[in-house]
Amino acid sequence: MKDARAAESAEYILRKIGVAPKLALVLGSGLGVLAEEIEDPIIVPYSEIPHFPVSTAPGHAGRLVAGRLAGKFVLAMQGRFHFYEGYDLDQVVLPMRAFAKMGVQNLFLTNAAGGVNESFSPGDFMLIRDHINLTGRNPCVGSNDASEGMRFFDMTTAYDPGLRQAARAAAALMGIPLQEGVYMWFTGPSFETPAEIRAARTLGADAVGMSTVPEAIAAVHRGLKVLGLSCITNMAAGIFAGRITSEEVLEVSEREKPRFSAFVKKTVEAIG
Ligand code: HPA
Repeated sequence: MKDARAAESAEYILRKIGVAPKLALVLGSGLGVLAEEIEDPIIVPYSEIPHFPVSTAPGHAGRLVAGRLAGKFVLAMQGRFHFYEGYDLDQVVLPMRAFAKMGVQNLFLTNAAGGVNESFSPGDFMLIRDHINLTGRNPCVGSNDASEGMRFFDMTTAYDPGLRQAARAAAALMGIPLQEGVYMWFTGPSFETPAEIRAARTLGADAVGMSTVPEAIAAVHRGLKVLGLSCITNMAAGIFAGRITSEEVLEVSEREKPRFSAFVKKTVEAIG
């Protein structure tokens, strides 16, 4: 059932954009501006695509943009679906399953995240080395079609070492510092409590956020290589004094947009 839906979405997208790109990008909160740099864009609103939900989060436009970025044909999601919006995880990861059906091979996930590691600062970029799924929810729960992916599958290198190396090379070329660490998924929509952040740190998290992990799991299940990059927009609750607001998150992602976009573009260029 979920595969039939993904196949119909994939078929529609392919009909609109012609050929499948090797790389798909998911542009997180406030980071969608990169899609505007895509040359000769073909725009496909989510509302047109069979089975696609419509994204409601602030800073998320709700459309696919296909075209050339850094000389490569790519497909970008300008806006993603979050569990906190009320979608079930099959809906959240439907695009990943559709991309896999289309023949996409690499998935570049970006997000805004709260910094847990005290050596981080707002405005830092963190390459996701690994994740912790604290929610206990998994998009692959339910019936499994073995022709699509294995029932039990390995997550040892969920964030592909080769793609991570490309991101490091891009950061070095641009002379920008790149943090690396573990992203922990909370469902939101409440930001975490200071006690949760202390627990997250003890458990090994460097950053926390409300996305990315279900998408990464579903993508790995379908054999995609995943790259994850966080823009640290704020320090997580209780790390320093002060409250967290979504205005602050959007303000910092707004401020960092040009640098973040340039870095994502350079990384796309560095991916073989
Ligand atoms: N917590 C969870 N998600 C986030 C945060 C945070 O502090 N900042 C940006 N996204």
